[in-house]
Amino acid sequence: MVIKTAEYLISSPDWEKCPKPNLPEYAFIGRSNVGKSSLINLLTNNEKLAKTSGTPGKTTLINHFIINQSWYLVDLPGYGFAKRSMSQRRQWEQMIENYLRKRQNLVNVFVLIDSRHEPQKIDIEFINQLGEWQIPFSLVFTKADKSTQAEVSRNVKAFHNKMRETWQFLPPHFVTSVVKKSGRDAILGYIEELNAQ
Ligand code: GTP
Ligand code: MG
Repeated sequence: MVIKTAEYLISSPDWEKCPKPNLPEYAFIGRSNVGKSSLINLLTNNEKLAKTSGTPGKTTLINHFIINQSWYLVDLPGYGFAKRSMSQRRQWEQMIENYLRKRQNLVNVFVLIDSRHEPQKIDIEFINQLGEWQIPFSLVFTKADKSTQAEVSRNVKAFHNKMRETWQFLPPHFVTSVVKKSGRDAILGYIEELNAQ
């Protein structure tokens, strides 16, 4: 897919304030600092579109971007950010649960996983929750440039094995690096496919 235009639209504190649900929507979620905003910038070829940071907890609202005037990309705040208070965490959970379960035009959620690590409980719990809510998702293993290809493959395989304990089918998965600019075409191709359905 060719990205002709990518524009920031709005940041919303809850799902009800999001843009009219009149276009297909794709959301990016995952642990704080896993690289959600960076990946959105890689996909849109615009390093300044979504705000990124070395410090976790940068993205705090539901951020909508409109691509080619025909679909939405959504940058969400990450989970597992240790410095959040209990009430902030609950607020995040409520905002995300409402957004994920009530947003009618949400086609697919991309769950980002740090490819450097073995399966993390927090990621598994989150995707199990998506399963309970019957929300379609795929996995994106990020920061592939930070370890060897063999290590990345081992972690992807371990993640799949962990999932097999509860899941009958495995979702599509992608491996990305914003440093090597890899994984972009595969994700955009997948979105194009879903947009055509
Ligand atoms: P929050 O909004 O805080 O939840 O974080 P985020 O998931 O949006 O992460 P963000 O895109 O801000 O990236 C966090 C840090 O990881 C930044 O310092 C990025 O430069 C770095 N980063 C993201 N993707 C990659 C990657 O593929 N390779 C490498 N080496 N660094 C990356
Ligand atoms: Mg972010």
